[in-house]
Amino acid sequence: MSQFKMTFVSVRFVTRRYVCQSLKKIHTSSSSSSASSAEYDNKKKEEIDARRKEIMARGLPKQKAIPGVKQILLVASGKGGVGKSTTAVNLSTAIKAVEPNKSVGLLDADVFGPSIPLMMNLHDTPILNQENLMEPLLNYGVKCMSMGFLIDEKSPVIWRGLMVMSALDKLIRQTAWMPLDYLIVDTPPGTGDTHLSLIQNLPLSGVIIVTTPQSAALQVARRGAVMFQKMKVPVAGIVENMSSVTCPVCSHQVQLFGDGTESLAEELDIDFLEKIPMDSQISKYCDNGTPIVLSMPQSLIANAYYRLAHTVIDFLKKQPINNT
Ligand SMILES: Nc1ncnc2c1ncn2[C@@H]1O[C@H](COP(=O)(O)OP(=O)(O)OP(=O)(O)O)[C@@H](O)[C@H]1O
Ligand SMILES: [Mg+2]
Repeated sequence: MSQFKMTFVSVRFVTRRYVCQSLKKIHTSSSSSSASSAEYDNKKKEEIDARRKEIMARGLPKQKAIPGVKQILLVASGKGGVGKSTTAVNLSTAIKAVEPNKSVGLLDADVFGPSIPLMMNLHDTPILNQENLMEPLLNYGVKCMSMGFLIDEKSPVIWRGLMVMSALDKLIRQTAWMPLDYLIVDTPPGTGDTHLSLIQNLPLSGVIIVTTPQSAALQVARRGAVMFQKMKVPVAGIVENMSSVTCPVCSHQVQLFGDGTESLAEELDIDFLEKIPMDSQISKYCDNGTPIVLSMPQSLIANAYYRLAHTVIDFLKKQPINNT
C-alpha cells in the first residue's frame, strides 16, 4: 500500500513538473511572437522532417528466427469461423503421423479466442524450465502453446493491441520449442495486428489460406491472400473448407455455398490445395480433442487432411530452412 502511495506521489510530482515545463515552453514561444511566424513555422517543419527521417531510418522491426525452429507455416483466412483452427489441428497431427521422426509444433496465435486447448485436449498449465522458458504441452506428438494454457478457461481476455502483441511475443519467444522442424501457427480471423506482427517479426516459410466457398468469405480471403503476397510471404495455397454436405439418407452431395474457391485460386495464381467437406464428424472429434485424422484415419476426410499434409511438406521442402 505504502509502495503504491509512493508511486502515486512520484507520478503526481513528475506530472506537475512536466506541466510546469510545458507551460514554460508555451510561455516562451508566445513571448517570442515578435519573431516572424514564418520563421517559426519553418523551424518546426525542419524539426518534424528530421524526426520523420529518424523514424524512417529505424525501418521495420527485423525478422528474427525462433532458435531451433526450422520452418514456420501460418494458417490464416479473412473471415472468422471458416475452420482455421480445425485445419491447423488436423494438419499438424497429420504431418506428425506422416513424418513421425520430425518434430512438429502448433502455436495458437489467437490470443482472444484460443481453440487449441479444446481441440488438442490440453488443459494443464505449462511449467518453466531451467532457462525460464515455458515447456509446450504435448499431445499426439505435437508440441502446443496457447494463451488458453495461461488463463482461466472461462475468463475473457480484455486487452488492447500492445498487450496482445507482447503476449504473442511471449508465446513465441518464451516457449521451449527447440528442436522443431515445423511450427504451424493458427491465426485469429482477419488480417490485423497479429498477422502483421508475425510477418514483421518471424521469417515465415509460408501461409495457407482457409476459406469456405461463399462469396462473403471468398472476398475477405482474397484480401488476406493479396496481403501475404504483397508482404512477400509465400502462399502455399487455398484450402476450401465446408465445400459440400453429404445427405445422410441418400448420400447425395449438396454444395451449400457455391463454388468460387477454385476461380479465386486461379485469379490469384495460387494453388488450390484441398476440399474438405462439411461433416459433423469433423466438429465432433474437434470438440472432443481427438482430431479426425487420428480418430478415423481410414475415412475419406482423414485422407483429405493427409493429402494436405503431404502437399504442405512438399511445399516446405522448397522453402529456406532456419539453422539457428
Ligand atoms: N469441415 C467442417 N465440417 C463441420 N464442422 C466444421 C468443419 N470445419 C470446422 N467446423 C466447425 O466449425 C466451427 C468453427 O471452426 P474453427 O474454430 O476451426 O474456425 P476458425 O476459422 O478457427 O474460427 P475463428 O475465426 O473463430 O478462430 C467449429 O465448431 C468446428 O468444429
Ligand atoms: Mg480459430
